Amino acid sequence: QGTPVVLGIESSCDETGVGLVRDGRLLGHAVASSMEEHARFGGVVPEIAARAHVHAFTPVVHRALTEAGLRMSDIGAVAVTTGPGLSGALQVGLAGAKGLAYALGVPLYGVHHLAGHVAADTLAHGPLPDPCVVLIVSGGHTSLLLVRDLARDPIVHLGDTLDDAAGECFDKVARVFGLPYPGGPAIDRAARGGDARTVAFPRPLTGPRDDPYAFSFSGLKTAAARWAERHRGQALPVADGAAALQEAIADVLTRKAVAACTAHGVSTLVVVGGVAANSRVRALAEERCAAAGLALRVPPLKLCTDNGAMIAAIGDLLVRADAAPAPLDVSIDPSAP
Ligand code: KG4
Ligand code: ZN
Repeated sequence: QGTPVVLGIESSCDETGVGLVRDGRLLGHAVASSMEEHARFGGVVPEIAARAHVHAFTPVVHRALTEAGLRMSDIGAVAVTTGPGLSGALQVGLAGAKGLAYALGVPLYGVHHLAGHVAADTLAHGPLPDPCVVLIVSGGHTSLLLVRDLARDPIVHLGDTLDDAAGECFDKVARVFGLPYPGGPAIDRAARGGDARTVAFPRPLTGPRDDPYAFSFSGLKTAAARWAERHRGQALPVADGAAALQEAIADVLTRKAVAACTAHGVSTLVVVGGVAANSRVRALAEERCAAAGLALRVPPLKLCTDNGAMIAAIGDLLVRADAAPAPLDVSIDPSAP
């Protein structure tokens, strides 16, 4: 028999993701995104996201199974994101997960979206060292976590953003700069030809009296809007603005993450979430970890953004740790801490 194949389902935002993992190995995964349907609104519309999950759910399960060369009857457990996230979107994934688990007679695991992001890295680089510091940076979150055994120990929150998430800041500033949604990749591309030194953007909460692990990005968004305003009537040097914004965000994120490792005597930093895809965040994290003698782990791009493989990965860790499954009446927890 051996370890069961875990089917993971992610539907907390605009991605319907399904992954299949066994014994720490990714067997197959598929993602459908409703991102384009939200583009003209400049952000995710919850109702549209929920309907898109209904539409995508079964085909995405089918695609993931096909990619893995598996059949429905090979599934030994189902893991699903119960929160945090958009409630309508989460409901669709959970309903689908319950249906599958009940029909197949296999255990169901409700998992935390952020634990999934952390677990994503194990699919690329093997088990996480205990302890490690994890920086989660996405459109909804900017958190510094102290992680021990993912399946057994509670994750310790070192700090969070006090206002906007880093990805949200990328997305909002991109809009001000006239770049398309999602803004992160657009800023990243635009920044390639720019000079970050030509624009002085602030480094929020990096003063000696500030909380070393708290983040704030709404001031940066305002600073970028003011800078754009000053160019009214002229061509906006978007490349320079994009490079400077990216530099400011990357500087603050990596500075605080490395400080958290040093303060907690941790020798490995893991950076996950959509913003971990940012080229400057990656480069600066590499540079600063090397200088501080830290190992850096960043999962590949496809595992960084929301996906089902990461949910299957945490499900697989729970199964192998003999964790108790969820009852079939488990609920979503949209504002899970
Ligand atoms: O993890 P993710 O797919 O979804 C959330 O849970 O939010 O992250 C999406 C976020 C978006 O804000 C997007 O703009 C940002 O990640 N992002 C990037 C890049 N690629 C995606 N931000 C900066 N640079 C990138 N290359
Ligand atoms: Zn996410």
